[in-house]
Amino acid sequence: MKGNDKLIVVLNQLLVGQRLPEMVTIDQANELDAIHVSKTAIHSAQEKDDQITADLLRKILMMEEGQADWADQQSDQNEQMWRGNYLANQTTGTFG
Ligand SMILES: [Fe+2]
Repeated sequence: MKGNDKLIVVLNQLLVGQRLPEMVTIDQANELDAIHVSKTAIHSAQEKDDQITADLLRKILMMEEGQADWADQQSDQNEQMWRGNYLANQTTGTFG
């Protein structure tokens, strides 16, 4: 299992943000990493003619892609809320 050593290291990393936008950004990066690792593992399983493992990894890949989409939506919503709040603050006339 020497070929899977890197996969184990990537899956054991844990990064946590202090604020929501940072958490979502880190989550997005982690999901993209998981997608890359899943695709690499699927390719490896296919090379070894292990279709059962490849099928299981494809299901995991689909979950990771869904989670990446969710994180992307959260990031977009956060950006829209930030802009809305910023514009509201700019138009309320803080200077009188
Ligand atoms: Fe995930």
